[in-house]
Amino acid sequence: MQIADRLKKIPPYLFVELRKKINRAKAEGIDVISLAIGDPVEPTPDTIIDELCKTARDPENHRYPTDEEKGMLAFRKEIAGWYITRYGVTLDPATEILGLIGSKEGCHHFVLACINPGDTVLMTDPGYPAYRASILMAGGDPYNVPILAKNRYLPDLEDIPTDAAKKARGIFLNYPNNPTGACATRGFFNSLVEFARHYDIAVCYDNPYGEMLFDGQERLSFLMADGARDVGVELNSLSKLFNMTGWRIGMAVGNPDIIAAMSKVKENTDSGIFNPIQYAGIYALKYEAKNIDHMLTIYGRRRKMVLEALKSIGIVFDAPKGTFYLWVPIPHGMTSLEFTNLLFDKAAVVVAAGTAYGKYGEGYIRISLTVSDDRLKEALARIEKALS
Ligand SMILES: Cc1ncc(COP(=O)(O)O)c(C=O)c1O
Repeated sequence: MQIADRLKKIPPYLFVELRKKINRAKAEGIDVISLAIGDPVEPTPDTIIDELCKTARDPENHRYPTDEEKGMLAFRKEIAGWYITRYGVTLDPATEILGLIGSKEGCHHFVLACINPGDTVLMTDPGYPAYRASILMAGGDPYNVPILAKNRYLPDLEDIPTDAAKKARGIFLNYPNNPTGACATRGFFNSLVEFARHYDIAVCYDNPYGEMLFDGQERLSFLMADGARDVGVELNSLSKLFNMTGWRIGMAVGNPDIIAAMSKVKENTDSGIFNPIQYAGIYALKYEAKNIDHMLTIYGRRRKMVLEALKSIGIVFDAPKGTFYLWVPIPHGMTSLEFTNLLFDKAAVVVAAGTAYGKYGEGYIRISLTVSDDRLKEALARIEKALS
């Protein structure tokens, strides 16, 4: 039987491989602590679950989702309300908002909507691996734009060779950034709009960590920039905001032509989000913003714990102020993979090797703050012991 060539170009998904490794170790009776995956251990707030249960009891909601594949109008209106309250951005629920089964789905639909086979699509290195997979599945050609500590992990758009920029029809960007934790600035958004306009590039700005900010960092949406709506869309998600990673609910907002094109892809792919999940999403956006503050207190505490533990073993760095990840420079003389393996072998702690996010991730590991305080404490104690 033939398996499509396009799949051969896609490397194994990082976390699937990691999960296999963890499961193998667990089967051998090893108490593995994973700091590799960004998946909150805290449950979804009860009130959101109650809303799901209540609406799931209504047989009307067992049918195909209502209000077309774009998402229920009530859900889209709530998203519009969220964008006004959180970012001061006005959106038309009819044409500028699309409900998604998570922002990861949005990456895929963006390329199917905007990219022809053979088109170049820019993405950052290091970068979220799903962008590369989506680009390749659409027949596009990923072009890596380095993001470096010296530029606060923002791409130097002027440094992108003119040839590559001319060929590019799309760009993926994500700030607060997975994996580096870096945040964008208003000035960068202006340059991005100008760059996208100049080269006629559609921007996919992926913002699922938009609220995961520390030390007074400003909350930003790409759509706050003048002209952003002319050149792109922003993806967002309820996954990290409300501890709802498994629920699969998110949104794309912005340029009406791209939203209409993504919507056409969706119409022909799935039939939308289960209505009770949309009702739960509406509830979350309307009433559970307090969960974000609650989680930020928890992540802030864990962030401090990790930074202090790393300092005690001589790893000191200026940690960026976004996401629930820490992008940690490793001691000289080891590769990311060697260091990752050492932590696994000597401490049974799993972290993500920087190179899993691209070659410019060499010299770093990514630590996630989404395990419980107790497990994190235990992991840090083991790391300290292994490295001492
Ligand atoms: C940058 C980035 N985009 C998208 C996602 C996926 O989000 P969702 O759960 O909404 O699909 C993740 C998840 O880790 C991510 O890090």
